[in-house]
Amino acid sequence: METLYIKGGRELYGDLEVVTAKNALLPILAGSVIHNGKIVIEKIARFSDVMFMVKILESLGCNVVFQGDSLVIDASGASNFLVKDEFTKKVRSSVFMLGPLLSRFKRARVAYPGGCNIGNRPIDLHIKGLKALNVKIEEKHGYINCDGRDMIAGEVHLDFPSVGATENVMMASVLLKGTTIIYNSAREPEIEDLQNFLNSLGARVYGAGSSTIVIEGVEKLHDSQYCPIKDRIVAGSYLIACAMCGGNIRLNGARKEHNHALIGKLVQSGATIKCDKNSIEIGVKGKLHSIPTIETQPYPGFPTDLQNQILAMQTISKGTSVVIENLYESRFKICSELVRMGADITIKDRMAIVKGVGRLYGASVVASDLRGGAGLVLAGLTAEGYTTVEDIYHIDRGYLSIEEDLCKLNAEIKRCNK
Ligand code: EPZ
Repeated sequence: METLYIKGGRELYGDLEVVTAKNALLPILAGSVIHNGKIVIEKIARFSDVMFMVKILESLGCNVVFQGDSLVIDASGASNFLVKDEFTKKVRSSVFMLGPLLSRFKRARVAYPGGCNIGNRPIDLHIKGLKALNVKIEEKHGYINCDGRDMIAGEVHLDFPSVGATENVMMASVLLKGTTIIYNSAREPEIEDLQNFLNSLGARVYGAGSSTIVIEGVEKLHDSQYCPIKDRIVAGSYLIACAMCGGNIRLNGARKEHNHALIGKLVQSGATIKCDKNSIEIGVKGKLHSIPTIETQPYPGFPTDLQNQILAMQTISKGTSVVIENLYESRFKICSELVRMGADITIKDRMAIVKGVGRLYGASVVASDLRGGAGLVLAGLTAEGYTTVEDIYHIDRGYLSIEEDLCKLNAEIKRCNK
């Protein structure tokens, strides 16, 4: 079993190229099956979740080949609209296959993705959105069976700006005759990237980034070559790492407009941030002040995917911070491990009260989910002595090689086989 072994106490320095965004790649890969032709995705990042999505495409009959840092997908051979539970159990975002399969085959049969360690992860909004397009849906024996032979363009009103539900409805309607409108759509940068990807194929999608997205159905799509955006959560994680360790780092490829909420909080805590068109630089001298309140919201609010990382930062900041997690019902699993490192955290429902302590102490801790694992690594970077983080397969789902990235920034961290 692999573990990360971290020697704490070093400041971070240097430049790092930010990797392509996991949460942009996953819907884009799913969407590639819509087009009966060839698509090249540049700067592919081989996260384990991405590699599982590649396996799903192959199981549908697509031919997928890595060529350098590009992925060439030929979906002309796709002949199957079934996504088995062996895949949906491994990568929840296989639920994004519903929309593309309906566009391509007018049918889809996807195993229920189920919950994960951070929450139940319901998909009622996906189902409701597709039903608004007259998709007949039957949920039986753990499968979602969709019949889209009578699908029609229409209006979809999302009760909550769900990222996945927005993406599924976008992809289900690109070839639907007429105009589909999604109200209360998610506004994340990855939604805008999906719009740009679909339009690079000849689709006509407008409004992504706002709360209303319009899709004018087209008859056919064409081949495309596309380069997705960089990962704002990986970039944000490393900005927080530097805020915790001190030092000065620059993240190339990171975009200010994708991390406004985090940047505001880091400046509020005393960090110096410099941004240009395609990079973000952070400088930190000495202890930072606690951020009084951090509340996760859909974009452009503070991202839930950076909540565990900034909570780890509050454990050693000066003062007290209240962290409120509004999106997931169990995204505080990191706290018990941080307390074992000396943190002072009280949890009440969806609220964590974090009292800054002088410093954390190295310990042997266990990651229970992707972003919680990243938060534990950040805590280990600042803790006195050595920290080992176990179950790091969670972290590999969303960080290409967190230890290599951090070593490039002067950290002392290595991956060991236990
Ligand atoms: C995407 O998940 C991201 N994953 C998540 O990142 C991210 O946390 C989330 O958006 C919010 O930003 C990918 O893009 C692959 P949602 P998704 O539908 O689409 C509720 C990471 O760490 N909801 O916006 O599943 C749901 O319970 C991952 O990279 C319903 O109630 O998120 C949650 O409370 C974790 N019914 C909230 O909405 C539904 O049908 C956000 O879910 C769908 C969602």
